[in-house]
Amino acid sequence: MLVGKRILLRPLERKDIEKVRKWRNDPAVIENIFSYNYINDLQQEKWFEKYSNSATEVSFIIVLNEEREDIGVIGLSNIDFKNQNAVLNTMIGEKKYWNKGYATEALSLLVHYAFNQMNLNRITSYLFAFNKASIRKNEKNGFIIEGTIRQMCFSGGKFQDVIVMGLLRDDWRKMQA
Ligand SMILES: CC(C)(COP(=O)(O)OP(=O)(O)OC[C@H]1O[C@@H](n2cnc3c(N)ncnc32)[C@H](O)[C@@H]1OP(=O)(O)O)[C@@H](O)C(=O)NCCC(=O)NCCS
Repeated sequence: MLVGKRILLRPLERKDIEKVRKWRNDPAVIENIFSYNYINDLQQEKWFEKYSNSATEVSFIIVLNEEREDIGVIGLSNIDFKNQNAVLNTMIGEKKYWNKGYATEALSLLVHYAFNQMNLNRITSYLFAFNKASIRKNEKNGFIIEGTIRQMCFSGGKFQDVIVMGLLRDDWRKMQA
C-alpha cells in the first residue's frame, strides 16, 4: 500500500473489477482514452485474469484516506525491465472528484514507487492533446512534453493529435532535492 496525504494506493483486486468496468464504460472517460469499446463483464474478467498473470503491468486503486472511498485507478503498463521504462495509465472514475488534485497526488505516489522500488528509469504518458487536465497533472509531477503524434487517434468525430510526455528518474530526483 502506498500512503499519501489525502489518498492511498492499494493493489487492484478481483473485487474491484466491476467497479473499474463501470468507470471505464463512462462515456466521459471513453472520450479521453484511446479505446472506443464498451467492456462487458466477461471481457473484464478475462482482462483481470491476464493482468493477474502479467509481469508487465501494475494497477492500483486510488482510495480517499478519510472516507475510505475508491475513486479511480492508476498504474503502469508495458513495463520493460531491460530498458527500465513503462507507460502510465490514470483514471479518476468518480467524476465528482475531478479537479481536486487527486490524480496529481496519485501520480506522485506512483512515480515514487516506480523510481525507488521498481528501479524504472523512465515513465511515458500518451494522451490526447485536448486532455488539458491530464497534461497538467503530468506537468505538476515533472513530466515534459516530448512531442506530438499528429492525428494518431480518432475521437469525438475527428482524428486527434496525441501528446507524448516523459519523466526521467534523474530529472525527478533533481526536482525532489
Ligand atoms: C485526467 C484525470 C485523470 C485528471 O484527474 P484529476 O484528479 O481531476 O486531476 P487533478 O485535479 O490532479 O489535476 C488537474 C489539473 O488540470 C487542471 N485542469 C483541469 N481542466 C483543465 C482545462 N480544461 N484546462 C487547463 N487545465 C485544466 C486543473 O485545474 C488541475 O490543475 P491545478 O491543480 O494546477 O489547478 C481525470 O479527469 C480522468 O480520469 N479523466 C478521464 C480519464 C482520462 O482522461 N485519463 C487520462 C488519459 S491519458
